[in-house]
Amino acid sequence: MKIVNTIQEVREQVKEWKKQGLSVGLVPTMGYLHEGHKSLIDCAVAENDKVVVSVFVNPMQFGPKEDLESYPRDLDRDAALCEKAGAALIFHPAPEEMYHDDFSSFVDMNTLTGGLCGKTRPIHFRGVCTVVSKLFNIVTPDKAYFGQKDAQQLAVIRHMVSDLNFGIEIVGCPIIREEDGLAKSSRNTYLNDEERKAALILSKSLKKGRELAEAGEKDAGKLRKVITDVLVSEPMAKIDYVEIVDWNTLDAVDRIDGPILAAIAVYIGKTRLIDNFILA
Ligand code: PAJ
Repeated sequence: MKIVNTIQEVREQVKEWKKQGLSVGLVPTMGYLHEGHKSLIDCAVAENDKVVVSVFVNPMQFGPKEDLESYPRDLDRDAALCEKAGAALIFHPAPEEMYHDDFSSFVDMNTLTGGLCGKTRPIHFRGVCTVVSKLFNIVTPDKAYFGQKDAQQLAVIRHMVSDLNFGIEIVGCPIIREEDGLAKSSRNTYLNDEERKAALILSKSLKKGRELAEAGEKDAGKLRKVITDVLVSEPMAKIDYVEIVDWNTLDAVDRIDGPILAAIAVYIGKTRLIDNFILA
């Protein structure tokens, strides 16, 4: 497995692979890889001849008061995980490689990005869409892999690929959890022991919500209330949002008639965690 830092090296390698008729899968990440990322890489390795993993903590998707500086980084560990999983290349650019001094073009989206995480993180999806577009243009993969853990991001990327005719197949992969139910996240490392215990309330609340929905409840308000009630039972949890939305439009729904996304964002101490389930 190769680790490269420049766009030119990625282009040369991918050109070589394409000359040989090999298919290319891309797994975009911000590093500090865990089992969730690994599941995406495993899926990509199974479906493509060559897999590129990008490891780039993208400054553009962090707000001014967010955790860009403290975001965990460990390239050696990431490289070991990628190599073991069968990736062929890690693209690990410096911020200057991705954004030169007079960088001034952005990919923005009018739909899907205003609610859920977009409300609390107004510039986040512009940063995500811009960097993912750049990665698509640099790597030119046949398929790219995204986790349902970031369900809004998955919907946004699918929409962007359709709007801008990227011609890349977007593969969504299920949420990988710790044994006790907490969704794996690089940000879980911020939690101290007490917060780690309290963080379980996210998956617990969604489990209760899912059970109600699967039992046939059609009133989205009731579903939202059940999830909220479980969350407020944990004194360390501060709710950012609890939303029941249409899985295609991400608009809030009153009735559950088609595919829905139940999504939550909750602060445990200073750490903001997200989780969700989709009922298709
Ligand atoms: P990052 O948070 O590193 O996540 C990279 C990918 O791993 C995303 O598609 C995310 O949904 C997926 N992922 C994270 N935790 C997961 C879990 N527990 N189960 C399944 N998949 C999981 O998302 C980003 O980086 C960035 O926004 C990025 C797309 C790389 C653009 O900068």
